[in-house]
Amino acid sequence: MKAISIVNLKGGVGKTVTAVNLAGILAADYGKRVLLVDSDPQGDASQYIGVAPDACSTADLFDGGTAYYEDVIQHTIYRDLDIIPSDMQLASVDLDADIDRKQAVRVYADLRDALVEDDVYDVMIFDCPPSFSLPCISAIAASDTVIVPIKPGAFEMSGMRLLADQIASVRNTGLAKRRVFGLLTIWHNADATRQSEDWLREHSPIPLFYRKIRRTDKVTESTYAAQPVTRWSPTSAAARDYRAWVAELMEVE
Ligand SMILES: Nc1ncnc2c1ncn2[C@@H]1O[C@H](COP(=O)(O)OP(=O)(O)O)[C@@H](O)[C@H]1O
Ligand SMILES: [Mg+2]
Repeated sequence: MKAISIVNLKGGVGKTVTAVNLAGILAADYGKRVLLVDSDPQGDASQYIGVAPDACSTADLFDGGTAYYEDVIQHTIYRDLDIIPSDMQLASVDLDADIDRKQAVRVYADLRDALVEDDVYDVMIFDCPPSFSLPCISAIAASDTVIVPIKPGAFEMSGMRLLADQIASVRNTGLAKRRVFGLLTIWHNADATRQSEDWLREHSPIPLFYRKIRRTDKVTESTYAAQPVTRWSPTSAAARDYRAWVAELMEVE
């Protein structure tokens, strides 16, 4: 099983849209059994996929009350696509003064081990919050690959270095080696965007995917419709870009 985290310390860069569409494409077009793990207390990925946390959420994994992954996983209306939803309760993980931080970092790796043993999924995808909270570090620690969505713009340049440094420090925790790639998102054809892209392609501390994701209103529409954009508007620019990018990702995986 592969595990991929979608990480960026900034909000609004397309993490959730990338996580959900990657999950949707792998399940629908590649026949992969996918588990999406909503690791952001905002619960946007859960909402996007049309699932409410109800009785269970990722927070239950961290408070130690859940011994069985079956208790926290919910099916979605999409074939081969399941989710562990999230809600604000997950924010309390970082506020708990008594928490065993080492154990919290291991939570998703332990979940992964259990899923591998039972051979239930082919891919796990973690949608992370815009912070290095414990659930985010735990997700990175459980992943082989980290994908950093980058919205081209002036502030990305300093943010990228910060992120690369922090990912390097997580890498040094002695856990398995993981690869880090950048993906340009919410791209549109303007001078400033092209300049930012040129700069990033030359100076980025992490390799960038060749494919990028164009900006289209269909994406925001799809989030309201609670459907991956590849389903809501299969021929839209972003849907085509996400499919082309997943094909590129599959080549490096
Ligand atoms: N390719 C795109 N085209 C247009 N809007 C997009 C695109 N990707 C993301 N968005 C919009 O940008 C906003 C932030 O995206 P989101 O995935 O929620 O970012 P993050 O998870 O990094 O905070 C959302 O309103 C989303 O609908
Ligand atoms: Mg998000």
